[in-house]
Amino acid sequence: SRHFIIDCDTAEDDIMSLFMLLKNNMVIEGITIVEGNIAFNQEINNALWALEYISDKLPYEVKVYPGSNRPLVKTFRTVENVHGKGGIGDEIPIPKKLSASSKKAVDAIIELADRYPGELEFLAISPLTNLALAYLKDNSIAEKIKKVWVMGGTIYGRGNITPVAEFNFWVDPDAAKIVFNSGLDLTMVSWDLITNYTIEKNDWDNINSMDTQMSKFYSNIYKHYREFAMTKQKMKGNPHPDLITTAIAINHEIAKKTEMQFVDIENCECLTRGMTVIDYLNVWNRNPNTEVVYEIDKSKFMNMLYDLLKWF
Ligand code: BDR
Ligand code: CA
Repeated sequence: SRHFIIDCDTAEDDIMSLFMLLKNNMVIEGITIVEGNIAFNQEINNALWALEYISDKLPYEVKVYPGSNRPLVKTFRTVENVHGKGGIGDEIPIPKKLSASSKKAVDAIIELADRYPGELEFLAISPLTNLALAYLKDNSIAEKIKKVWVMGGTIYGRGNITPVAEFNFWVDPDAAKIVFNSGLDLTMVSWDLITNYTIEKNDWDNINSMDTQMSKFYSNIYKHYREFAMTKQKMKGNPHPDLITTAIAINHEIAKKTEMQFVDIENCECLTRGMTVIDYLNVWNRNPNTEVVYEIDKSKFMNMLYDLLKWF
């Protein structure tokens, strides 16, 4: 079995990513929470609420570890305009039974890396603050963690929070820089890539006509994000940054075209804060540190999504 930590700034796509891991029998060793999409405490509550929602399907206990509620150095802003106040639209999820662990994310990451050396996988679908802090506290996680699946950055320089920066890298570019220069084994799924694989009208209508609990849950939590993407981001449907990254982590064949490249992140407080710098001609002669994804097998991804929506 495969052991995962999933690092969330818990909005709709983070929640579906958690569910996709579970549906595909990945073992979730913990959910770590980091600053990002919405108010930090709401991100914690959303993770607990999602676990309660799925509790029937959960054969073991999953803990939620609060991590950093701010970037290492910089200030940032949350994006309730994108995901709604509750991260799943304007409804505010409130967990009824579960509460967060008193253990902090950084310690959970280091302990789990020690427990599963060479096996633990880290699904980084949020700003990289928690992972950077864990690495700063214990460099040896770079050898112990088998794989880090990163949702973040750009491959064509087209951002979402600024013209050139993707949100997760922009929020904490210092953390991203530390992680990309740490020696961790990285695969990067970028924002401008995933904008090519949105859920367009046909699939959206199909999903809405499905009669499963999961499909109804999906339509409900993505409505706000879809509306934002289609009106403000010139997209043909709702995007799945976190979920596509998760699908690739589960089944690498979904990454149809990849290249090993040296990637670094601009961490100045400047026009290009958080910009992804890819040495595509290898002019710096550095060892590649990242598997960069350039193309996705959309039909394979859609099969995984429909599988998930038919779960129950
Ligand atoms: C990323 O930022 C968040 O809004 C999403 O959850 C995703 O991780 C996209 O830029
Ligand atoms: Ca996220």
